[in-house]
This record gives sequence, C-alpha cells and structure tokens, in this order.
Amino acid sequence: MEKTHYETKYWEVNNEEAATDHPVIQAAGRALKQEEVIAFPTETVYGLGGDATSDRAVKKIFAAKGRPQDNPLIVHIGKKEQVETLVTEIPDMAQTFMDAFWPGPLTLILKSNGTCAKGVTAGLSTIGIRMPDHPVALALLQASGVPVAAPSANRSGRPSPTSAAHVQEDLSGKIYGILDGGTTGVGLESTVVDCTGEVPVILRPGGITKEDLEQIVPEVRLDPALKDKKEKPKSPGMKYTHYAPKAPLWLINGDLEFFQQKIDELRTEGKKVGVMTSKESAERLNAPILKTCGSRSHLSSVAAELYHTLRSFDSEQVDVILGESFPKKGIGVAIMNRLEKASTRIIEP
Ligand code: TXA
Ligand code: MG
Repeated sequence: MEKTHYETKYWEVNNEEAATDHPVIQAAGRALKQEEVIAFPTETVYGLGGDATSDRAVKKIFAAKGRPQDNPLIVHIGKKEQVETLVTEIPDMAQTFMDAFWPGPLTLILKSNGTCAKGVTAGLSTIGIRMPDHPVALALLQASGVPVAAPSANRSGRPSPTSAAHVQEDLSGKIYGILDGGTTGVGLESTVVDCTGEVPVILRPGGITKEDLEQIVPEVRLDPALKDKKEKPKSPGMKYTHYAPKAPLWLINGDLEFFQQKIDELRTEGKKVGVMTSKESAERLNAPILKTCGSRSHLSSVAAELYHTLRSFDSEQVDVILGESFPKKGIGVAIMNRLEKASTRIIEP
C-alpha cells in the first residue's frame, strides 16, 4: 500500500528569485523526480504536480484529490519543444496557438503518443498539454526535467486554490509538499482547446477567450455541451460538480431589485444568507453577510477573486449563498461557466 499520510513540507519562493538553481526549486524538482506529488503556483490556479510518466506519481495525484479516475489530467511543460515528446503530431493550428499564447493559460488537446502514464489520459487517445506563464512553475518544470501532470490542487469538487493557504486547507497531510509562490493571477483555470479536428473547439472556457483565439485563426467553436446541458461534454471533467463552497450557491439571474427581494425572503424564512456580488452591486444591496468579488467593469478582477470569495463563505456557516450573474462576454464566459457549475440553483424572475 502506498503511504497516504504525509508531514507536508512547506516551501516559499518569491517570484523574482525563482530559478532552476534556487535551493527550494531544486528540492521540489527532486521530489518530482522521486515520484512524489507537490502543489505549485501557476498563473491560473495552484496545480498538484507529479511526474506524468510515472504510474505511481499519477496514482498519488488521484488519491490525494479524491478525483474520479475517468477525468484526465493536464500535462505541464517547461519548454515548448517538450510537446514533441508527448504527441504523434502537431497540427498547424496547435503550432499557431503555441507561438501566440505559450507560456500562458491555454491547454491544447492533441493526439497522445502514449509516453505518459495511463491515468493521465484516463484511457483517451488524446492528451492535454500546457506551458504555464509563472516563474516558479517554469523554474520547477525545467528543474524536474519531466513532463508534470497537474490538476488543480484542491480536493475534488471544491473551488480551485488561488493561494497556498487554500491548498493547505484541502491537502495538508495528504501530499509531499507545497511550494508557495503567492497568489495566482488569472484566478480561473486555463482555456482547454481541442486541436484534433478541422476546427479548434473550446472544451473549457478560461483566461484566453474565444475572441483572443479568433484573432489568430479564422474559426473557433464552443463545445455544444457548454451551452446545452443535454449534450455530453467532450472534456470528461466538465460533467462533475465543481468549485463548490460548503453552503449551496444559488445564482441570481435578475436585476438588483429582484436580488434584494430574494435576500429579504430568505431572511424572513430565518435563513442565514451570504451574498456575493461585484463592488458596484454591493453598494446597492442590503445584507448582513456580503462579500465583494471584483468589479463589473473589469471582469478579470471578478475572475481573480472568485474562488477565494467562494471559499471565504465556508467559515461563516451560512445556510445559502446568493451570487450575482455576469455578462457572458470575454472572460465572463469562463466566470459564468464556473458559477453555473458551482451553483445548485439558478433563480430567475
Ligand atoms: O489552469 C489549469 O489548467 C490548471 C493549472 C493547475 O494548470 N489545471 C487544471 O486541471 O485546471 P484540472 O485537472 O483541474 O482540469 C483539467 C481539465 C478537465 O476538465 C479535464 O477533463 C480536461 O482538462 N482534460 C484533460 N485532458 C483532456 C483530454 N485529453 N481531452 C479532453 N479534456 C481533457
Ligand atoms: Mg480542477
């Protein structure tokens, strides 16, 4: 039996000092080579990394997260050329995306050549690969010298971690180590784009938007499952409950008057209500527990604060969280995708 309890090591590196020869990066890189799993920062969310070519390391990732076996992992690389060692071919569109957006929050789905451990692709013939845009992540990936499979470093079903403290909440004692590189930037996971067909298809919206991709290639489609709940998603992970705080989240899809009415109704029923809105809406709503999450005029700030704000309700013991809806434009598509998945109800007038 593989060990399941760890004295989780905690390392700190500041972004300016991150380099392959930094003693902490060296120690973390060695741990990866020795088939241990460690959490590390990326520009999107913290990842839980293990050597993608090691069955043992990959099993440890699934065990620590409590992740369903049929949900494949994204492989992280520290140099663009590493892609060639993992896939059967690099289609032109993929090369174009790599040139334009790597390092960055874009995962490309390509045809796997079978180099990675089976668990990584969860039995699919394709593999998701990305090169993260974070100095600590890049230094670690280069120091380890191996492709690193890394799902988000949360327990399965929970909001993804945007700080080392979130990782500690979920995984302390369950993993070998945590590399703290501060708060992540984008705040939502990478955009996942399937590059195995004629036209690129977005399977998971993220920091790189459809509009960004369309600057580079003539046509980009959205996986129909992102719009129609009856469609089976092509990205296996998209079907599970995700990003959920402890209390149920109800999304309000109406104006502020309607929002206030729902707060008041629930309070009259004796419920302890938590409210999560943009700073603009917060000024116009009245609720005892109200947490702001970015600004409607800069949706990237909503993305950056979303998971932290959702997690912050856990200590409030609320009965229900009412959340604001955002326009599905630009990064708003990714924000609403996560909010809809995190929520148990959508309330409309
Ligand atoms: O920003 C990110 O992508 C973060 C950081 C750590 O890099 N990682 C992340 O990993 O979000 P995870 O495991 O939480 O999400 C991976 C997503 C899942 O929805 C999974 O189903 C999908 O990518 N995926 C992975 N490989 C795939 C494949 N071969 N085909 C289709 N979808 C795939
Ligand atoms: Mg995840």
